[in-house]
Amino acid sequence: MTSVSSSPSLHSANLASPSAEGFADVLVGLQYGDEGKAKIIDALAPGYDVIARFNGGANAGHTIDTPSGRIALKQLPSGVFHPHATLYIGSGCAINPWKLAGEIEQLREMGISLEGRLRISARAALVQPHHIAMDRRGSGTIGTTGNGIGPCYADRALRVRNDTRVNLMLGDLLKSEVDAIASMRDVFTRMINAEGGTSPWIAEMSDMLLSLPKVTETLRRYIEADRGWLTDRVRNGANVLFEGAQSVLLDVVDGSQPYVTSSHTVPAYAYVGGDLSPKYHRRTIGVAKAIMSRVGRGPFPSELGGERSAQYCHDASQSRTGATEEQVRYSPDKLLRSSDPFDVGTALRMLTGEYGTGTGRPRRIGMLDLAQLREVIKAHAVDCVYLNKVDCLAHYFRSAYQGVPMRVHRDVLSSDVVPDVLIYPGLNERSLTLGREGTLDAAMHGFVDFVERHIGAPLAGIGLGPERASLISLATHQRVPVTAPSPHD
Ligand code: IMP
Repeated sequence: MTSVSSSPSLHSANLASPSAEGFADVLVGLQYGDEGKAKIIDALAPGYDVIARFNGGANAGHTIDTPSGRIALKQLPSGVFHPHATLYIGSGCAINPWKLAGEIEQLREMGISLEGRLRISARAALVQPHHIAMDRRGSGTIGTTGNGIGPCYADRALRVRNDTRVNLMLGDLLKSEVDAIASMRDVFTRMINAEGGTSPWIAEMSDMLLSLPKVTETLRRYIEADRGWLTDRVRNGANVLFEGAQSVLLDVVDGSQPYVTSSHTVPAYAYVGGDLSPKYHRRTIGVAKAIMSRVGRGPFPSELGGERSAQYCHDASQSRTGATEEQVRYSPDKLLRSSDPFDVGTALRMLTGEYGTGTGRPRRIGMLDLAQLREVIKAHAVDCVYLNKVDCLAHYFRSAYQGVPMRVHRDVLSSDVVPDVLIYPGLNERSLTLGREGTLDAAMHGFVDFVERHIGAPLAGIGLGPERASLISLATHQRVPVTAPSPHD
């Protein structure tokens, strides 16, 4: 058995740059979002000076447990609880100023001031009331989060509608708040009139506009007009960790249309939306989870229960069925023993808490897809991977699978007769328990090596529980050489 460390400092070992200039690493989710990126960032943050967002907005969400309670953040980077770290929100983000001011205020009430620590690009796109109304009205097909993110990015590209500028940026609030508010009111009113003069959200949107001056006042001191702010920091030696929102498979171009988010989620975009030259890129860190999930519509090859699960979760999100209703209706232990993968998926969702952070929607559940990870890792040259929720695989031992089902790439096992789904038998609850205590036994080593061989990248760490100490660094883990994916895969 090898002792491994769960200390955050190990995760950030070897991060110091010998040169005077700093560097940037990019951390992205490798699946469909909600892989637990915030937990990894929390562990890595001590090794960086700046934690920066480069895409998305209030459609993202991370829950952080703090000594003063649980806090759900949507737009602020995950490093808020590391006082040494500066937080940057780049021009690639879509800002909901009301919600962002709310997050800042919530932290202030917890005694955490962001004064002097937070910079937000003045060129970040501004989410306006009509974006939210449009998104709520049209969210069904894709299953968007209804935060107005898609319409906001669409207006950024459209620039002008009916002779009115619609691509407002955060800085426009500072330049001429009165004009910006008048423009938003005008566009919203025209939209309502075109729809026959009614909308369920008129009062709410009107209130939002009325409160905007106060919100602007809160944000004013954090808005950064200098496009070169992050570059200057890095040139002066700062190390940056870019934090991707959503995940690579939801990229607006690279993902499976139309079931994607509306911004670029791939690591390369960090250097556009994050306002830094790619010259400073050092490494790409991926985060995946062993029990996979997806919210909203779209392909999910390893989904337990396939189309039935997709439809069930869609209907449940429409009828606002969430964790509470499922707990009343079903017994997860009973479902787990069913021979129907749909039941197993439902049980895993209940046992592992897979419900939307912001929306409470039941997430679609899937088995670990190593074949898909392999493709994503290769496409984006991901250097290392953190695999979360490995402890949750223990539930499979009580299921009809009697092992861990995983999708694998036929080429890796170089056999024509190998099925796409393989049941991995060699892990047991004892291995997972030992792992939580910081010791990996032979079975756990075997699992780690198996995963590495299949995805073609080293595992930097595994998550064996929700708490900080359960993130096990594999930095000292004795490993067999990793087989890189061949160019013909
Ligand atoms: P939008 O980003 O709100 O436009 O939603 C588009 C798609 O991306 C939907 O399927 C959403 O459920 C999904 N999505 C957006 N943000 C997240 C996230 O943070 N985690 C997981 N899925 C997300």
